[in-house]
Amino acid sequence: MTPSTPSFTTRLSDAARIVEAGLEALLSDNAAPGEIARPPRLMAAMRHAALGGGKRLRPFLTIETARLFGVEEQGPLRAGCAVELLHCYSLVHDDLPSMDDDDLRRGRPTVHKAYDEATAILAGDALQTLAFEVLADPATDPDPAIRSDLVLGLARASGLGGMVGGQLLDLSAEGRYGPANLSDADVRLLQMMKTGAILAFSVEAGAILGRADAAGRRSLVEYGRALGAAFQVADDILDREATPEALGKRTGKDQEKGKATLVDLLGMEGARRECRQLVEKAEASLDRFGPQAQTLREAVRFVVERQV
Ligand code: IPE
Ligand code: IPE
Ligand code: MG
Ligand code: MG
Ligand code: MG
Repeated sequence: MTPSTPSFTTRLSDAARIVEAGLEALLSDNAAPGEIARPPRLMAAMRHAALGGGKRLRPFLTIETARLFGVEEQGPLRAGCAVELLHCYSLVHDDLPSMDDDDLRRGRPTVHKAYDEATAILAGDALQTLAFEVLADPATDPDPAIRSDLVLGLARASGLGGMVGGQLLDLSAEGRYGPANLSDADVRLLQMMKTGAILAFSVEAGAILGRADAAGRRSLVEYGRALGAAFQVADDILDREATPEALGKRTGKDQEKGKATLVDLLGMEGARRECRQLVEKAEASLDRFGPQAQTLREAVRFVVERQV
């Protein structure tokens, strides 16, 4: 596999810059129309969670997928920011003492360390509702049917049958609720839910805004699912192999918690093989889009080769 090309890394960092600016605007201290007031402590905790870090891979996928259909306006940026807000909420709650109990995230103290647990829970809650507000706002797309499709998709990807459900399965995999004994298939399901669903939706959101036809949307969702699966296997490999300094978060924690990942079940070589197969699967799902989809092809390679 070839390393990411300079044009790919430039595109990713350009997207990260505009996403940062978009998030800053959404998280200002000034109340938006219809709001009563924004408590400064809550806003500061939300900004701590959402600004100044992260690869911004999810909004990048939304923006690049919409670009496949020639849509380059505010809509994909806003939808991408919504997915990123949701992702940041999931990280704040994932790090809580009752969940993974982590002190470091994106190279900085986690929100409950920098503030307190109650503020972290509320900041996560508010990031989540803001994500849906952004999608439902006419500024995201003038067509209410498109906005409703986006809201429905994010709700399904992030809720009981997606990220939240996956997080519950993930905690069960530590043996908290009884002996775990997970099979490969159990781990794949858990990962598809906790991580894959939101990554797949990041891609699908671009297809929705691009008015993709049913077959095009299906192919893109398939691509997003394969990318999502590859992403979590790579996260588990990094948890085993990277340093906290490089990664900006604690490492070695899956093993410490006795959580079975594909690295345990397949071995390191097996996990890497799984990544390669998923990259091929993701790339094959893009066949119908031809050379236009080159950035998305590079995105899946980036996902498995990343060091952060
Ligand atoms: C980390 O996601 C959490 C998982 C879903 C495994 P990322 O690796 O995308 O985290 P950031 O947004 O770049 O910090
Ligand atoms: C987190 O998975 C997934 C979500 C936040 C939904 P992990 O617990 O493996 O993520 P890290 O390693 O803490 O980033
Ligand atoms: Mg976790
Ligand atoms: Mg965690
Ligand atoms: Mg992890």
